[in-house]
Amino acid sequence: MRAAAEDIEEILFTQDQIEARVEEIGQQISRDYAGRTPLLVSVLKGAVYFLTDLSRAIEIPIVMDFMAITSYGSAALQSGVVKLIKDLDIEITGRHVLLVEDIIDTGLTAGYLLRLLQARAPASLQICALLDRPRRRILEALPIAYRGFEIPDRFVVGYGLDYQERYRQLPFIGVLKEAILQESRLLPEWGRHPDAGSAGSPSRA
Ligand code: IMP
Ligand code: MG
Repeated sequence: MRAAAEDIEEILFTQDQIEARVEEIGQQISRDYAGRTPLLVSVLKGAVYFLTDLSRAIEIPIVMDFMAITSYGSAALQSGVVKLIKDLDIEITGRHVLLVEDIIDTGLTAGYLLRLLQARAPASLQICALLDRPRRRILEALPIAYRGFEIPDRFVVGYGLDYQERYRQLPFIGVLKEAILQESRLLPEWGRHPDAGSAGSPSRA
């Protein structure tokens, strides 16, 4: 049996580094939202690891809720068209909402979610993203109030982030071995595999 961690070529952020950064962001949020009870909204499943750790690093009262979305493959993703599978349970009107994301890549998913949430008239709406990959950004004007780490133009897994639903459980964030990506024909947009063609993209949510 091969351990999931054996498929990692390089660790970008260790468990300790993530823990320390999450702690800092939690303290920042506690200061910025002091006197209020922010609603942390997260998208299943990628951001769940980050959210649960972040919530424990926040000292002020908070409320949490979840959404689930799916995209219709990479072509639809380019247009930011995602389908809402599970909506929030909590009414957000008049609340201070913080959208907690695993990674902002093109920004299209976050853009879609922001439009959806903004339409419900929250008192405020900001983004807290663990990872930010600005190189591939399509939608520039995003209110990213908190960001854990900026990452280079490489596909990453671990700490909630998946490749074809795998590797979420890794306690660190790393880059997959080339052979793994080739094995399962990674999408052309990552420029690694010449005949990636119709294989589709790694799971995006
Ligand atoms: P965006 O709409 O392009 O910003 O895509 C954001 C979503 O794509 C994230 O919430 C992730 O689910 C997924 N994603 C983007 N980059 C990566 C990555 O490097 N590893 C795993 N998932 C990713
Ligand atoms: Mg996601």
